[in-house]
Amino acid sequence: MKGKKTLRISIMLVLAASVLVLVQTQCRHDDLNSAIFAKVCYQTEIGPIFLRSCGTTGCHDAQRGKGGYTFTDYTSVMKAITPFNAQKSTAYKAITGKGFIQLMPPAGALSENERILIRVWIDQGAVNDPTCVPAVVGGTPPTTKSAEKVCFQRDLLPVLVSSCGIVGCHDVATHKEGYNITSYASVMSNLVKAGSPSTSRLYTSITQSASSENFMPPKPYTGLSQAVKDSIFNWIKNGALNDVCSSLCDTTGVITYQNQIASLISKNCISCHSGSGASKGILLDTYTAVKAQLDNGKLLAAVKGTSIQMPPSYSITSCELREIELWKANGAIQN
Ligand code: HEC
Repeated sequence: MKGKKTLRISIMLVLAASVLVLVQTQCRHDDLNSAIFAKVCYQTEIGPIFLRSCGTTGCHDAQRGKGGYTFTDYTSVMKAITPFNAQKSTAYKAITGKGFIQLMPPAGALSENERILIRVWIDQGAVNDPTCVPAVVGGTPPTTKSAEKVCFQRDLLPVLVSSCGIVGCHDVATHKEGYNITSYASVMSNLVKAGSPSTSRLYTSITQSASSENFMPPKPYTGLSQAVKDSIFNWIKNGALNDVCSSLCDTTGVITYQNQIASLISKNCISCHSGSGASKGILLDTYTAVKAQLDNGKLLAAVKGTSIQMPPSYSITSCELREIELWKANGAIQN
């Protein structure tokens, strides 16, 4: 009797755990398109992960072969792989906990990066090509926020559109050099190799020497901040997914320049309103400068689109607009 009850409880626990894992992994990976990834190599990238994480002594090594699986060489690994279909592959189910009894390895999940690599390798056909050369993944390593998740629609698209997708540059009509930087699809079509920042034009063009003629954005536009460069690096490295994510905009507490307004302006306006080439001579790069445009009424009129439309090619969200209004109503404080 007691045994039965324990069994029932443990089944329920496992079920609850898998639902959790399912919810987590589904939203992260289901829009992963392996075709846009650089080729993933078995010998240099995948084999070592399996060997190190699964094929260790006492687990899935040649002697023990727990559960009938060994992960020590390509042939044995392939028993747990359905080529071109990661979702159906036992190995992928195990490392994501999806439709599998227990998340593997039991000692701790693989990193997100490793899971993405394995998934892409399987979806690309799970071949063992000895001539495969892994994509250069490096590039200038991020200096800040390296572990922070970057959501394309929320964190990057506004910056890209206000800095690159502008009229006369990489908007739909001009698409200079063939590059249109106005949507996820257009950016992915020829500027990004998912997983590899250093072979992605989007990243290399903003990180090369500022004196190079290919350096972006070109003079007199303001260069992107290090934080934006790091976000682009992390986003590409983690699979260049088209995540939406809930908004960070929050109108409940006290709105200050430091906490909300500075990042809003930096994401949507600073590309044209800083430095010596600032549009119409209007600077928005310091508290004093932003407050001046708030006090004379021009800033709100511009973001509402009642004088002119700012940013020129899209609108900030209604929540962001509300943040500016509340900030003003409460005295436009700095900190
Ligand atoms: C792509 C470049 C670009 C971006 C991004 C941009 N602006 Fe502008 N902004 C301009 C240009 C160009 C003008 C001058 C337009 C004109 O005079 O017709 C201007 C003018 C303005 C003006 C003066 C309006 C007036 O009534 O004279 C304000 C205020 C302003 N922008 C605020 C903003 C704010 C706030 C943001 C971000 C939410 C922003 N801009 C984003 C290019 C930009």
